[in-house]
Amino acid sequence: MAMDGRLQVFSGNGNRDLAEEIARELNTTLGRAVVSTFKNDETRIRLEENVRGGDVFVIQTLCEPVDHNIIELCFIIDALRRSSAGRITAVIPYYAYARQEKKTSGREPISAKVVAKFIESAGVDRVLVIDLHAPAIEGFFEVPVDHLRAGPLLSDYLRQMALKDMVIVSPDPGGVRRAAEFRNRLNASLAIIAKQRPEDDVVNTIDMVGDVQGKTAVIVDDMISTGGTLISAADMIMERGAKEVYACAVHGLFAGDALEQIGKSSLKSVIVTNSYPVAPEAQKVGIKVLSVASIIAEAITRIHKDLSISVMFSK
Ligand code: R5P
Repeated sequence: MAMDGRLQVFSGNGNRDLAEEIARELNTTLGRAVVSTFKNDETRIRLEENVRGGDVFVIQTLCEPVDHNIIELCFIIDALRRSSAGRITAVIPYYAYARQEKKTSGREPISAKVVAKFIESAGVDRVLVIDLHAPAIEGFFEVPVDHLRAGPLLSDYLRQMALKDMVIVSPDPGGVRRAAEFRNRLNASLAIIAKQRPEDDVVNTIDMVGDVQGKTAVIVDDMISTGGTLISAADMIMERGAKEVYACAVHGLFAGDALEQIGKSSLKSVIVTNSYPVAPEAQKVGIKVLSVASIIAEAITRIHKDLSISVMFSK
């Protein structure tokens, strides 16, 4: 049943620029709220407008400071619930801890599930995400999860670049399905790299299947953190005789000195989205940022009106 309540949009401090852009796309403004900290560093939330009966969307990217932004989101949800919001949807353009969705060795938490439980126990009714690192995370929530894709946005941009003789490269076997979708959309060929992680945040490429000789390679990934995966993949691709190498990913975290390392690498250009806030200096090292605001705004409108979301990705 479509929500009768008025559509309202609130934001945490995770990615306010994106939240404002989404609100503009929806022809509205962000709900008024205090989202700050007390002097002792505790999170302080106070809603400054009536939300009673409203169909409320809370936008919060779980970027750095990650744990703080999770708490902000949970506290905003709790405040909305206690203020009698009719329905609360958490809009999470980047879901942190998504790479900790399973135990990779003994005595480790499944952190992605713990985060889901936090958010759910705060009182959320629905969740809206983009390109979860592992789609199985949807199942960590009992409430409905709508899962948007930025692949069409990224591949449309690549198509406009009109790169000649393109080969799409998955930087690890886990990304083959995503890379194959790009290959189909762009009518390119496909190559797959095998990588290993000898330790946290360190990547070694082992081998590559597929021909990149004389081609324009585009590495496709879901996220860039340290940049290690991309840089070592780019090195292998160039060693195997590619003409040039580009990369695209949905979430550009650029942790630590990733921007500097990418600037020094063989990557010609990197395309990401603003699901995660990207530092302005990224432009200087050839990083192009595409906006997911209109995709999210369309999904919010569709959820509000009880319309299909999957139809957005059926082409
Ligand atoms: C791994 O499975 C992911 O898809 C990314 O390849 C990885 O998280 C990127 O991390 P980094 O940039 O630190 O290599």
